[in-house]
Amino acid sequence: MRNIIKNLKDPTTTSVVLLYWLLWLCTTATTATALPKVSCTDHDTTITCDCNNDEQPLVLPQLHGTVYQVKIRNCRDLTVEPNALDNTEGLRKISFQHLDKLVLKKNALSVSRESNKALIVEFELVNFQLIDSHAISGNIEEISFTGGRIEQMHPFGFTTIKDSAILLKLDGVTINHIESQAFKKFAVEKMTIVNCNFIGNLPTRAFYELEVRNELAMLNNQFQELHSHAFSFKLISKLSLNENRFAAVDGEWLEAYIRDAVALRNNQFGATSDIAFRSLGVHRDYQLSERLELRFHNNTVRSVLPPSSSAHGADMAVASPPPQPLRFDERFALSIRQLHYDNEWDCEQLDMSAQPPQPRIEFFRQHSEQLLFRATATATATATDGGGAVAFVPMRQLIVDQCQRTNYTAYIVLGSLLLALLIVLLLLLLWWRLAQRRRRRKLDVVQPEPRTYKETQIVYQIENAGLLKTDL
Ligand SMILES: *[C@@H]1O[C@H](CO)[C@@H](O)[C@H](O)[C@H]1NC(C)=O
Repeated sequence: MRNIIKNLKDPTTTSVVLLYWLLWLCTTATTATALPKVSCTDHDTTITCDCNNDEQPLVLPQLHGTVYQVKIRNCRDLTVEPNALDNTEGLRKISFQHLDKLVLKKNALSVSRESNKALIVEFELVNFQLIDSHAISGNIEEISFTGGRIEQMHPFGFTTIKDSAILLKLDGVTINHIESQAFKKFAVEKMTIVNCNFIGNLPTRAFYELEVRNELAMLNNQFQELHSHAFSFKLISKLSLNENRFAAVDGEWLEAYIRDAVALRNNQFGATSDIAFRSLGVHRDYQLSERLELRFHNNTVRSVLPPSSSAHGADMAVASPPPQPLRFDERFALSIRQLHYDNEWDCEQLDMSAQPPQPRIEFFRQHSEQLLFRATATATATATDGGGAVAFVPMRQLIVDQCQRTNYTAYIVLGSLLLALLIVLLLLLLWWRLAQRRRRRKLDVVQPEPRTYKETQIVYQIENAGLLKTDL
């Protein structure tokens, strides 16, 4: 040992040691690619590869010949090398069941249109360590993930020949990290994402340039933050987004052009940008004369200030911003029902000069009957049953209850104004009456007493007699 250490200081022995080390590295590398293979049995047109829960890492052998179906199951640690299916013919279905750790290398499941039928790929209770780029590609008709977990998915993890895919299904899958463009540029008839838990934030363009010719249904999923354009679709015929929970949705997180129908129901959106839904649009193939209805029913949102008005997310969490109007494409006929704002209503947002007071913002005015806001802290203490759930109060009621004080002052001001006016009127009336009376009295003084008949006669007589003439 001491010798070796001594010798290490000698440059020639150092290089020899390095060489040995490199050799050792190469041999271990080759053994890594030459991992033991799963034993597969061939029965009729079905090949079954069963790892029997063997603890050691295994690889799937290259499969040959005419085979209709491949079943792979009970593996603790399995790698599918590139082009594992290249030498098969007539393959229709490949299914993976109960795999603890699966790595799909590039082109692991790639089938060309010439040699194979459109392929159905099924994963049931499979934990993927990695889905590499182009791992599942080619002439794919259906792909479904049921249960299990995806640790990491590289860009273009799943690509199909256009016009071939019919179904993409994710059901009960935990998804840790998928990279931008993991699902890129393919068309399916139907896509369903149900009961999934996305643990990591979804980057921009995680689902990118996809077409869903028939229906996209997202139901009961849990998401963290979704960045701008995390979902980007060139076309969706029918979109339904129900009972999902989102920690945060950035501006335009969902970009989609809808051809037939769109409904978002019973979802809970955490920190929500006011332009979160602005990129939902109407597809150019929609040609009916009446506008396409966008149903936005019974959703909860929590408004955050636009990024420009606060430096970073940290501030947003601290500040309790007033509710912001949501923006939608005006080509939709927007149907809003029971929209819950997890923000407190601010009486400052009312135009008190209107009777009854009206919200200043058009969106709130237009949908005032359908809006609910979080009850204030003091109101919550009395309003909730103590369950800790957020209590929501209809906007109409809030305006009466919460903005009441300002209402009272308005009434008081208005009342006293009226009273003052009345008093002024009364005073004016009084003054007018007094003035009238005084004028009449003055007239009494000035007007000479009417002469009596006798007096008049006397005056006449005097005049006629010329007694009054002074030319005497
Ligand atoms: C409204 O949505 C919530 C979930 O956000 C749900 O619990 C509730 O049942 C829904 N109400 C109706 C009437 O659908």
